[in-house]
Amino acid sequence: MIEIAIDGTAGSGKGTLGKNLSIKYGYPHLDTGLMFRTVAYSLLSIKKNDLKNLESLSCEFAKSLSFIAINEKKLRSEETGFMASKIAVFPKLRNILKLKQIEFSNINKKKYGGCILDGRDIGTVILPNADFKFFITASIEIRAKRRLLEKNISCLQEQNVECMLQSIIKDISRRDKVDKSRLISPLVPAKDAFIIDTSMIDPNELMSIVVKVIEGRN
Ligand code: C5P
Repeated sequence: MIEIAIDGTAGSGKGTLGKNLSIKYGYPHLDTGLMFRTVAYSLLSIKKNDLKNLESLSCEFAKSLSFIAINEKKLRSEETGFMASKIAVFPKLRNILKLKQIEFSNINKKKYGGCILDGRDIGTVILPNADFKFFITASIEIRAKRRLLEKNISCLQEQNVECMLQSIIKDISRRDKVDKSRLISPLVPAKDAFIIDTSMIDPNELMSIVVKVIEGRN
């Protein structure tokens, strides 16, 4: 039974890699960032005054979280991403989501022979004995450009596009900093992870590097 752990920074291409590996090998893929984002989105939907006890509220939302309920499109904003990184420092919340991630892994290993999880602490905390661990990263400028391309910018003037790019760079850097510096489950490569920089390669090239590693052709 195969476990594939993918970690990395925002916009590095780890999510696309997870989806592509899932299609190739038929192992279900879980984007664990979406779990943190779903809880964050629920918190952002309630009145600001009610956000006093973020930790216990986030735990309540996390307990009732189901994989089926995760609607990707709504959750992708940087506002939700930043709230996700803000609550991702809470040990109790991480523990609730950890159990759900391990449950996903166990169910799918039994049913399909393998699972693929991507996030920030998969190779270090969630699946420390994973068969394959990848840590994906890229320069901040490239990651911000990728995020910008995901938005509909065709109607904007060049000056506004540059302004938007700078704002995305600021947002991603802020989130990277929170993720790397937190005490619990910080974003660091596992000691036995393959570290891949995708600044100069596209998703297909990344996929072929990873497939070579998995199939022992590296
Ligand atoms: O991967 P994504 O950008 O969707 O993740 C949103 C946020 O959720 C991250 O910035 C991080 O703070 C948190 N996260 C985490 N551990 C994971 C996945 C995501 O702390 N395994």
